[in-house]
Amino acid sequence: MEPIYKITEVLIFLVVLAACGNHANPYVKEPVATANPVDTGMADKGIGKYSNVQLTHPLDESMVDNGEEVYKAKCFACHKLSDEKLVGPGWSKITERRTPEWIMNFVTNTNLMLDSDLVAQQLLVMCVARMPNQNLSDRDARDVLEFMRQNDGKK
Ligand code: HEC
Repeated sequence: MEPIYKITEVLIFLVVLAACGNHANPYVKEPVATANPVDTGMADKGIGKYSNVQLTHPLDESMVDNGEEVYKAKCFACHKLSDEKLVGPGWSKITERRTPEWIMNFVTNTNLMLDSDLVAQQLLVMCVARMPNQNLSDRDARDVLEFMRQNDGKK
């Protein structure tokens, strides 16, 4: 019976591996890209110091520009701007599935969120990889959010 358990384990491992996309490995079949299945609606603020993030209308272009620089330097390696997963989930529509507070708390309080926030933990299971804290300043975290809003077509 043992070998059968082994095979089952390997299969489960492969399915888990495929979950966040693995572009480097041609032997793992790519799942069809879909919107992020972990969706909480728009009430969850996550865990951290941000309880009320003021959004600007229209978008602040200088914040968007700086946010894009931060993205290119620190996030691009793991996050696409489409809904396709890389190491982490794609950012398309992220501002519609997460509150601004959740995003900023996650980005600045990553370890605690991954340890204690329900949604973050589901993402962790889905992606297998654990996002390292990127040590963003408050300003950079806010500017990345502005860049995400622009990416989602917000005006
Ligand atoms: C080394 C890879 C890596 C880097 C670099 C990275 N992330 Fe992540 N990110 C992840 C993973 C993986 C997840 C899913 C949660 C987990 O498994 O830790 C994630 C999740 C997220 C989420 C939640 C996504 C969702 O759908 O709710 C946000 C927001 C996020 N990251 C922002 C950032 C920002 C901003 C940066 C750059 C400053 C960044 N990440 C850099 C790997 C990374």
